[in-house]
Amino acid sequence: MDSNTMMYGVIGDPIGHSKSPLMQNRAFRETGVNGAYAAFRVAPERLGEAIAGMRAMGFRGLNVTIPHKVAVMAFLDEIDEGARAIGAVNTIVNENGRLIGRNTDGIGYVRSLKEEAEPELAGKRIVVLGAGGASRGILWALNRERPASLQVANRTWDKARELADSLAESQAPAVQAVRWEELKEACSEADIVINTTSVGMAPHVEETPIDPSWVRPGAVASDLIYNPLTTTFLQQAQERGCRIHGGLGMFVYQGAYAFEYWTGVPAPAAAMREEVLASFTGK
Ligand code: ATR
Repeated sequence: MDSNTMMYGVIGDPIGHSKSPLMQNRAFRETGVNGAYAAFRVAPERLGEAIAGMRAMGFRGLNVTIPHKVAVMAFLDEIDEGARAIGAVNTIVNENGRLIGRNTDGIGYVRSLKEEAEPELAGKRIVVLGAGGASRGILWALNRERPASLQVANRTWDKARELADSLAESQAPAVQAVRWEELKEACSEADIVINTTSVGMAPHVEETPIDPSWVRPGAVASDLIYNPLTTTFLQQAQERGCRIHGGLGMFVYQGAYAFEYWTGVPAPAAAMREEVLASFTGK
């Protein structure tokens, strides 16, 4: 670091377990970009001060994580189209003093899915389990790929229906809500089944969001969870002949897109993944 180093960081609460500093600093080293990235714990009532600090100190970029992704929008100068449709910001870009809010979670997921499991999403039948914040970003980004169908199912039906309705306002073709009871049939016809719920996350690693045998052999089973790296849902789907796709890639590519927005330099995604993976496995 020297007096020309551009500053970056992630704000959240808690933030102590974030892998973003390791990953982004590796990207700076790898590309030779003169930047540095740190984690900042920001309490909800001090979010406005933190953003004012970013402006005053001339930080080039921030990532934003739980619980600030929605609240932070009120402090920014501009929200891009995707972040507006998703209703949440995970990346701030400081363009000469103008703070622009973007969301790289959904597009990061889609890039990971295309690079690691299924290069062509157009014409595919896709089922998404869960209707929370993560699901929303992913549905928005998947919908842009022109799948043959895009269905969302949720334990609480109203949330699935509301999510499908609200996305239909900003985007065509529309997302369809399906009832949890109809999932078995929907999954058996799907090319890709994606878990966005927290079911199967450590420490409850033996749980699965649906019976993995509902996914047809040859189809892709995908899980946003990356702790564990391979969930029981994925493991059992693989044993039945499904192709599987874990959640680590989404984390890597949401960071890769943020890096690219900030620096204009192609992100060294393989090195970023290696860095995160090493921090998990202790190698
Ligand atoms: P995130 O931002 O990570 O998506 P969230 O907004 O809290 O987190 O959403 C969690 C999702 O997991 C929701 O779709 C939730 O379903 P409900 O809307 O019915 O609560 C889903 N979920 C959590 N536990 C679940 C379980 N045991 N079975 C099925 N779905 C579950």
